[in-house]
Parts: sequence; structure tokens; C-alpha cells
Amino acid sequence: PLYQKATYLKSVPTINLCPEELTHEVAFAGRSNAGKSSALNVITSQKTLARTSKTPGRTQLINFFPVDETRALVDLPGYGFAKVNIKIKRAWEAGLTTYIEKRDSLKGLILLMDSRMPPTDMDLEMLNWTQEIGLPVHVLLTKSDKLKKGPAKAELLKLRKMLKEEYPNATAQLFSSLKRDGLNEVWDKLDEWMEF
Ligand code: GTP
Ligand code: MG
Repeated sequence: PLYQKATYLKSVPTINLCPEELTHEVAFAGRSNAGKSSALNVITSQKTLARTSKTPGRTQLINFFPVDETRALVDLPGYGFAKVNIKIKRAWEAGLTTYIEKRDSLKGLILLMDSRMPPTDMDLEMLNWTQEIGLPVHVLLTKSDKLKKGPAKAELLKLRKMLKEEYPNATAQLFSSLKRDGLNEVWDKLDEWMEF
């Protein structure tokens, strides 16, 4: 309900251009096409707040969606998308890394991973690195509608076991934007990080 108030503020390429009035932010990260923008739309109950696409690489800047004067959800460009110019790619990655590492108002990262695929090297790198810098992570195993209940649950348990052993800064749940499954759980996590 709180998140329905989200509006689009602006998109920026680098941290120095991020809005200064924000004290609490939660960013959505993950490989290209994992479903970040779709998740954001479902979480805010808005069909077209964040741009979604069948073509990976749709989201190319740091996009701010404030829910009140001091709190915002943030849509990040996907990583691991090969089809862009290497220089542009490096520049985004540097921009993203700096944002995640240096942005004081960033309270947590929602990391989206396709429930049908094993974590990519970039996902593992992201887990390692957020652990090192002490940033909490909540993994959404997305597109869970594409799996049957049993296999989906098995994937979740497998992931939770790995997180417990190696990445104690991270938690995980199943999520489907298509079926709107897992919404209460992710809202609870956002409330915790946003201090609502
Ligand atoms: P980039 O911005 O390119 O990094 O991608 P993204 O992570 O924002 O992905 P986006 O939300 O644009 O979704 C990518 C594709 O996956 C789209 O075709 C969506 O319709 C589809 N998709 C997203 N979430 C789900 C889901 O829960 N279930 C199913 N079946 N498809 C989904
Ligand atoms: Mg996107």
C-alpha cells in the first residue's frame, strides 16, 4: 500500500547526480532480463512505472522512484548484458559499483535471480562483494510461475542453504511478477529496510 505512492523522479548515470534529499533507498539489482523492472511495477501496483522489455539491457541508468519525501525504490541496469559497446558497459559497471558502495542512503539490495537458472558468476560476485561491504541483500528467485511448486521450493531451499553457509548478509524468497506471488514477503523486507 505504501509503495503504491511511488512516482518517477529521475534517472542518473552516476552517484554525484543522485538526489540528495533521500535518506532511505532500496535498489533492485540482477542480471539483465531477470525481471527487476517487472518486480518494481508489481511491488508498487503500477503497470508502467519502470520500463520492462523482452530485450535485455532495457534499463540503462540509475532510476529513482520515491515513495515519500525521503525514501525511494531504485531500479538499476542489469549486469552481464554483452550486446552493448564495451566502453559503455564498463562505464555503467563503474557507475553501478560506485553507487552501491558509496551511497549512504542505500539500506539494502533486492537481488533478482531467475529461479530456473543457477546463480551466474556475476550474482555470486555481487553476493561476495555486498557481504564484504556489509550491505544486506534479499534475493528474489523470480519467474517462479515457470516452475512447479515442488521444484520451486527445492530451488529456494538449496539457495537458502548456500546463503546460510556463505552469505549470512542475505535472505531469499520465491517471487513471480506474473502471478503476484511473494508480495507480502518482499513488502515486509522493504518496510524493515525503509524503517516504515
Ligand atoms: P533489464 O532492465 O534489461 O536489466 O531487465 P529487467 O531485469 O528489468 O527485466 P524486465 O522486468 O524488463 O523483464 C524481462 C522479461 O521477463 C520481460 O519479458 C518480462 O515480461 C519477463 N518477466 C519478468 N518477471 C516475470 C515473471 O515473474 N514471470 C514471467 N513468466 N515472466 C516475467
Ligand atoms: Mg529493467
